[in-house]
Amino acid sequence: MIDHATIERIIDTAEIADVVSDFVSLRKRGVNLLGLCPFHNEKTPSFTVSPAKGIFKCFGCGKGGNSVNFIMEHENLTYPEALKWLAKKYHIDVVEEEDSEEQKQQKDERESMMIVSAFAQKFFIRCLWDNNEGRTIGLGYFRERSFRDDILKKFEIGFAPDGQSPFTEAAQKEGYRIDYLEKTGLTIKRDNWVRDRFAGRVMFPIHNLAGRVIAFGGRILKDDKNTAKYLNSPESEIYHKSKVLYGIFHAKREIARNEKCYLVEGYTDVLSMHQAGIENVVASSGTALTKDQIRLINRFTTNITIIYDGDTAGIKASLRGIDLILEEGMNVKVLPLPDGEDPDSFAKKMGAGGFQQYIKENETDFIQFKTRLLLKEIENDPMAKALLISDVIRSVAVIPDNITRSVYIKECSKLLNVDEETLYTEIRKQKSKQTEDFRKKEIRESAKEFVSSETEPKKHITGFLVEELEFLRFLMKYCKAPLFEVEGENPHETEIVKAGNFMINELENDDLVSENYLFQIIFSEVKENLDNESFDPWKHFIHHLNSDVSKLATDLLSERFQESKRWNKAGAYTEKEEDILDLLIPKIVFEYKHRKIRFMLENIEKKINEAATANDFDRVIEEQSKYMNLKRVEKFISDKLGNRAFI
Ligand code: CTP
Ligand code: MN
Repeated sequence: MIDHATIERIIDTAEIADVVSDFVSLRKRGVNLLGLCPFHNEKTPSFTVSPAKGIFKCFGCGKGGNSVNFIMEHENLTYPEALKWLAKKYHIDVVEEEDSEEQKQQKDERESMMIVSAFAQKFFIRCLWDNNEGRTIGLGYFRERSFRDDILKKFEIGFAPDGQSPFTEAAQKEGYRIDYLEKTGLTIKRDNWVRDRFAGRVMFPIHNLAGRVIAFGGRILKDDKNTAKYLNSPESEIYHKSKVLYGIFHAKREIARNEKCYLVEGYTDVLSMHQAGIENVVASSGTALTKDQIRLINRFTTNITIIYDGDTAGIKASLRGIDLILEEGMNVKVLPLPDGEDPDSFAKKMGAGGFQQYIKENETDFIQFKTRLLLKEIENDPMAKALLISDVIRSVAVIPDNITRSVYIKECSKLLNVDEETLYTEIRKQKSKQTEDFRKKEIRESAKEFVSSETEPKKHITGFLVEELEFLRFLMKYCKAPLFEVEGENPHETEIVKAGNFMINELENDDLVSENYLFQIIFSEVKENLDNESFDPWKHFIHHLNSDVSKLATDLLSERFQESKRWNKAGAYTEKEEDILDLLIPKIVFEYKHRKIRFMLENIEKKINEAATANDFDRVIEEQSKYMNLKRVEKFISDKLGNRAFI
């Protein structure tokens, strides 16, 4: 892990224009710089660099981010790799925090598993090409299915010899340890026997984005109803099925160049499409498409075409995929194949030229696909038509971009013969429902996050930061107390600012009101009643109808909490709280803010790390910009804290 000071130094030094101009020639355009986008083909420049904001953005392909993101994208590096790349460029020493023993072990383990997988792949390749059994059975099988040798070599296809454990024995003879063979799933081990998982199958290695083998799919050679046609490596430290797309390593360059990705179901579909000269293709490997898989494609293009088998299962699967893709703000088209064909069989039947021609003529956008499909089912039933409209509109409503949405609405209106206004009304309904669902989910999640966060439990009060409790205690107890005088509207007149006003304004101005709902209740009720003469906060909260609020108030306002250790430590215990409010309250407020921001920063850091490990480029950018904004606020606050001589 790179330590934080170093990361900050790198980010401060790596000036965006300087970083980008190593790869793109930029000219000045107003306050910005403009050039040809390195991430997609374009003739007129739409790639913009803003030195003031420290970001780049391409208005053609939508890619954007800071200088680290640029290097990640351009050099195809992970977040830490990109940081190191920049550190080297600017001669910054990278201080790596020592990995913990556990982290080291995990890293070693992953590396060992990849090394074992690489050995297995080479072994299987040798068996396919050089071994008698492999040549007759394995290679024979592929030749019969008319796969060309160059395609088999490109995808590093192999053969696992039949028998109890010929592979495991060979691996152990070469010194590979049984535990890694077992962890990768290549070997199945029980108390008194071992056997090869894939014996007698042709082998499709599965590569990660960087081209390393992380898993295998193995196909049986005879069609036997009693045995699974494909056997896959189990989930492991290095293989998370839901995050991987088969073929991504061999496709990524062509996906970016063509600004389009074809999505198919199976291993052999990918191979056959390559054989037909279409290389921007990946497979979901027979499982339902996941968000992580879509985001992986989104790193290279925003356009996906789903090619599905013409049977009912295929149609269902592609309908499910459509909304997920739309939600990510990507464009989705559908290419239906004739019943009974899959891309593999169809490409072979049509030949390369014919297949490409078919794609051109039959690719339809999802609206047409969905409406036509559903229209066929309903005939002239008006009730069914209403349901159909809301079904299609549900897909349109998830599209994040307004302009794209309005284009689809126009088309829907024509296809369904419904006026646009009606469709907009329907969308509004759907959207408010989606927002509501989303809001509920957010609240649930933030509640979870909060409860599990680092807090100091006090009696039955949990889920709060100490600083939040202190803030609430002072707010309830002293909200009406005069804090200081400020100049009034007329000269020589002064106005008294109440503690409550000060505390509430400070938090609201910095948008740092806690998301804890008990906090919010107390905060907003104090605010409402500040000018109310008869409001007695003590009584009000202790007798609150919400029993959680009254419990909290009781604890905070009771004697036990009066003399917290903090004041003793600060040396203030000799004085009464009430007598030094003008010192204590600003301190409480700033400490609250400081802690709150640190807490938020830590959460974002966690998210950045997660996103970076998942190679989720968009989320890294998103979280980073939140991070930078908060950093600015934090700096401002700590400057203030430092400049004030508290107590
Ligand atoms: N699959 C799987 N396990 C199975 C069946 C299928 O993992 N028992 C996955 C494989 O990734 C397969 C994909 O689902 O490639 C699609 O399945 P299917 O269409 O049945 O196989 P094809 O790819 O058409 O394989 P083939 O052409 O060799 O019959
Ligand atoms: Mn097939």
